Formats: sequence, C-alpha cells, structure tokens
Amino acid sequence: MKKILITGAAGFIGSQLAHRLWKEGNELVLIDNFSYGKVDNLIFEDHDFTNEVIKMDIRDKVGIKKIFENGDIDYVYNIAGIAPLPDCQSDPYEAIDVNVNGLVNILENARKYGVKKVIQASTNAMYENEKVFPTKENKFELPTLIYPNTKYCAERFAESYCETYGMSVTCIRFANVYGPHIDCLRKQPPFVAYMIRELYFDRTPIFHSNGEQRRDYIYVDDLIDLAIAVQNGEGFDCVNCSSMKNYSVNEMYKIACKIMNKNIQADYASDSHYWEKYPTLFEGKYKIKESILKNEINKYSLCDNTYAKEKYNWVPKIDIEEGLRRVIENECELLKNMKG
Ligand SMILES: NC(=O)c1ccc[n+]([C@@H]2O[C@H](COP(=O)([O-])OP(=O)(O)OC[C@H]3O[C@@H](n4cnc5c(N)ncnc54)[C@H](O)[C@@H]3O)[C@@H](O)[C@H]2O)c1
Repeated sequence: MKKILITGAAGFIGSQLAHRLWKEGNELVLIDNFSYGKVDNLIFEDHDFTNEVIKMDIRDKVGIKKIFENGDIDYVYNIAGIAPLPDCQSDPYEAIDVNVNGLVNILENARKYGVKKVIQASTNAMYENEKVFPTKENKFELPTLIYPNTKYCAERFAESYCETYGMSVTCIRFANVYGPHIDCLRKQPPFVAYMIRELYFDRTPIFHSNGEQRRDYIYVDDLIDLAIAVQNGEGFDCVNCSSMKNYSVNEMYKIACKIMNKNIQADYASDSHYWEKYPTLFEGKYKIKESILKNEINKYSLCDNTYAKEKYNWVPKIDIEEGLRRVIENECELLKNMKG
C-alpha cells in the first residue's frame, strides 16, 4: 500500500483523483485550504471524504512539515493551485505565492523526508504564444499571462530541485480538463461548465468572438490514468496530457445541445469584455492590453500527446460525446437544487 499526499483535494481534479486512489487501496493524506474547493466535491456514492480533508494552506511551513514528519509519504500530487486566469491577473502576488512558493514548500519537505516522487499539476496554458501544432513539450514560446507564468516558474524550480538534489518530479501539462465536479457555479466557470449551466436554466449563453476558436480537452478519468502512470520514472519530466483532438466552442455547444435536447441559439459578444465580472481588468492599473485579451480568447490549442503514450503507455479512452454526456448527467443532478 502506498501513502499518498494530495493537495487541492477538495477541488474538481483533486477530489476525483482522491476517489480513484482510495478505490485502488492507497492510504491518503488530503489537504485543501477551501479557497476554491467545496465539501460537495468530497462526497461520493461509495465514500465521503469530508472528515478526512485537513484544512491547510500549501504555503503553511509548520503545518506542511508536520504532515511529512508524521508519516512516510511515498508520493505527492500537488494539485492545489489558483487556476482561473482572471483571478491570477487580478491578484498576481497571491497567484505567484500559491502556485510557485506553495510548490517550493512541498518540494522542500519532499526532499527532506525522502518522498519517491512529486507530481505537479501543470498546464498547457503555458503554450499561449506558441504557433506550432500539435505542440510538443520541449520547445515553445514562453507565455505572457500571470497564470501560465506561475506554472512555468513552478516547473523551473521543480527541475532545479531534481537536478540539484536528485529528486523526481513529473509536471503534467493538462489540456482543458472536464468531468464530473467541474465547477458550474464559479464566478468565471470553465467553458464546459458555463455552457451546461446556461442550457440547464434555458438561458442564452454568450460566447466571445465567433465561437470558432478551438481548444483541446481531456476527460478527468483519462488525466487520472496518466497521473497514476507517471509514478514510474525518475528525474525531472514534463508531459502533455491531451486527447490531441480539438473542438471549437460552436462544435462543443452543438454536442451539448444534442445531449441536453435543447434548441437555444447562442449569442456572441466582442472580445473586449471577456472577463466582464472582473471590472478591474478593464480599467485602472490592472487593465489588460486588448491584444493580449484577443490572443487569449481566440487562442488555438492542440497539444501533442505522443510522449505520454510512448513513455507511459497511456491512451486517452473517453471521447468528447461520452465525456460531455457524463458531465451533463452529473451537473444537471447538482443544478436541480440551485437557482442558477
Ligand atoms: N481544470 C483544468 O482545466 C486545468 C487545466 C490545467 C491545469 N490545471 C491545474 O490543475 C489543478 C487543479 O485544478 P482544478 O480545475 O481542480 O481547480 P480547483 O480550483 O477546482 O482546485 C484547486 C484546489 O486547490 C485548492 N487550493 C488553492 N490554493 C490553495 C492553497 N494555497 N493551499 C491549499 N489548497 C489550495 C482550492 O481550494 C481547490 O480546492 C490546478 O493547479 C490547476 O492550475 C487545471
């Protein structure tokens, strides 16, 4: 039996990962500071993790040290992080502190207490300026926005720890992850969650630009398969986790309408107020340059998954129709009790 620490365990991905690793018989230590995480995510049909999650910040030096001191942790999944782009742009200090210093605090303890491997939640958002597709792990234009830069820096420190102290860290660069527990009710929900929520309440969704922008997606179970596979392998590694298929906003919407049996025409808005719920990003000192906003909205993403397949013998199994059907089933159940 392995002893595994998961940070960000009350979030969308962390909670699903905890559930799978628990089902596989591992001993888990779960932490989350509940800044974005939710108790609802911790309740599964066959197990309730609510009382097992320690409320703790990954930056807490004393607390995190105690977690490592108290037991022989074999693997750490550092899934905690501040992910929403507008949150990172509105409060860069906090984003950098959590996403970079938080990881360094984990690495320090992993080093001291001889953890076998740290697996870091990284992102394909760092390919924001790359124009070669499908994008491979080893060569790309560096990003501009705060969020991908925090994850890029985190990777650099992870590599430094591996090179200097002989540790093992794998950074998995997730494509757009979707699956049950994706947060529909967040101020700025991910696109898949937003689209399902608006359709559920029979509202007209508003998409920015013309809806032809294409992104690659990965179903959460497929991501977890890879996250488990990478426990094997030593040293430093970065690996893309993508279905290597991308879909436009309009294509995704068409599939969701079909599954939900809805016939609502979407509205389209200009790029200029993409993050309209964050007025500070359009005025004053944090005003984002229009060209950068435009690039983010119209960004084309497609990651190459050959390395994950070859090195870790991994294959994504869930196609977009099946994945969306599962998310819709789960989200509609949750939305039943909400007012929208
Ligand atoms: N969802 C995606 O499409 C996607 C894509 C690429 C990368 N990622 C990365 O995967 C990770 C998980 O993403 P998610 O979609 O599950 O997001 P999420 O917000 O649902 O989960 C993140 C969890 O981390 C917790 N957390 C945040 N700051 C913390 C801190 N300082 N200490 C302890 N816990 C803290 C939050 O409360 C939350 O429960 C993030 O690091 C994110 O950057 C996600």
